[in-house]
Amino acid sequence: MARQIIIDTDPGQDDAVAILLALASPEDLTVLGLTAVAGNVPLPLTQKNTRIVCELAGKPQMRVFAGCDAPLQRKLVTAEHVHGKTGLDGPQMDDPVMPLQPQHAVDFIIDTLRRAPSGTVTLCPLGPLTNIATAFLKAPDIIARVQQVVLMGGAYFEVGNITPSAEFNIFVDPEAAAVVFKSGVPLVVLPLDVTHKALTSTARIAAFRNMGTRVGTMVAEWTDFFERFDVQKYGSQGAPLHDPCVIAYLLRPELFSGRFINVEIETTGEFTLGMTVADWWGVSGRTANALFIGHVDEVGFFDLLTERISRL
Ligand code: BDR
Ligand code: CA
Repeated sequence: MARQIIIDTDPGQDDAVAILLALASPEDLTVLGLTAVAGNVPLPLTQKNTRIVCELAGKPQMRVFAGCDAPLQRKLVTAEHVHGKTGLDGPQMDDPVMPLQPQHAVDFIIDTLRRAPSGTVTLCPLGPLTNIATAFLKAPDIIARVQQVVLMGGAYFEVGNITPSAEFNIFVDPEAAAVVFKSGVPLVVLPLDVTHKALTSTARIAAFRNMGTRVGTMVAEWTDFFERFDVQKYGSQGAPLHDPCVIAYLLRPELFSGRFINVEIETTGEFTLGMTVADWWGVSGRTANALFIGHVDEVGFFDLLTERISRL
């Protein structure tokens, strides 16, 4: 049976590819709804971009909800320097026609978890954890009902991308991340350590472009745009497809490996705010709370992504 998921997202070109991968995989995943959060760009753009991507996938019947427009306690930090002014810079996109749902994303998450049999809904956060933490704080009873939270965020060996010590999604709302990591919910973390191994290349982008479909062309143009930032910054061969790693993990967990360890979120550090203090070497004696992924079979990952995207 297909696994039921809610995608919580802040598109972002890599979020867009993750959403496409999920929507292309109905035999494995039932997307109950998509909840937008402020992150890469402000909420009015992330909710709009989420609808653009659903329409591009040919799924205008998907339900998209707008959530929190700012972190729990801090001013929003955005990443237009990576994703462009719209969050989805690259190809020209029309405004979506499909509606935004009237319900708040946090209430949708709470209602869905309360209605579904316990342990049957997985949350997939691809942005700052504000919506998820707000739901957990507002309705703590739902925490025990979550099957798993599988999220993109944090880093250990790669340390940080938005600051020397923090990854963007965790840095934007560290208090929200702390709520989720301390909640006791079954947690799988896809950090930069993994996503920096899932790099595009000229050949991989060409494979999308050569599909000859609208979706293939969009994915090629998005990844082309997104690539310029990482190539300049890291001197790497391509752009990391961060958020698609979450969906790929759900589809083919055997492509990934990691360790079940303790991960704490730094919320007070002067230089280390938003750091994921990951006890990879098991030296703290603290209780493990997350499966922290460290490795991906990148060839298997791109084979999967290319095959699924070609269906759309
Ligand atoms: C994360 O930050 C965003 O810019 C990406 O969409 C991804 O979710 C990577 O640090
Ligand atoms: Ca994202």
